[in-house]
Amino acid sequence: MNQDIEKVLLNRKELSDIIRNLGEKITHDYQNKNLLIVCVLKGSVYFFTDLSRHIDLPCRIDFIQASSYGTGTVSNGEVTMIKDIQQDLSDFDVLITEDILDTGITLKHIKNMLLKRNPRSVAVAVLLDKPSRRVANIKADYTGYEVEDEFVVGYGLDYNQLYRNLPYIGILKRDIYE
Ligand code: XMP
Ligand code: MG
Repeated sequence: MNQDIEKVLLNRKELSDIIRNLGEKITHDYQNKNLLIVCVLKGSVYFFTDLSRHIDLPCRIDFIQASSYGTGTVSNGEVTMIKDIQQDLSDFDVLITEDILDTGITLKHIKNMLLKRNPRSVAVAVLLDKPSRRVANIKADYTGYEVEDEFVVGYGLDYNQLYRNLPYIGILKRDIYE
């Protein structure tokens, strides 16, 4: 295990089970819809690639990148768009995939932005939910796992752009960021 990790929260097997379950639910719910899965870079890239392979439907994929964190562990409340989708959304049922719903500021901003483009629907799938820290009024339609107020990394989640490639989700030791 990486020496900066206090404890493994979700190992490979647990992640895989959670994601297969979510994929099956989504497959069931999106029959006869026109699915466009939107990956929010960079954090949700591992979740998105695994989840999309458990969605047994014809669908399209696209990518969006927003930034709200800078280098710390607390959201500064400002969301900057770095990369947007080119696709016209008017015929699509959009499913946004995100690594973690924390304050909700980032997802709320992205969801509102996409809603303005008149898609058929917009839903949100998050691997992790940290409801204790919610500021924005937003709920995920699909949630993998609820976390306590700890800073977690791995499987796409970073601290200062590190730890994304860990194959598990772990709680980062406090002395790394305090
Ligand atoms: P908000 O606060 O806007 O934040 O919901 C969403 C983004 O913040 C990052 N984030 C985390 N990243 N461990 C991380 O590695 C965490 O515990 C954590 N909490 C929030 C993440 O990039 C998410 O997309
Ligand atoms: Mg992120």
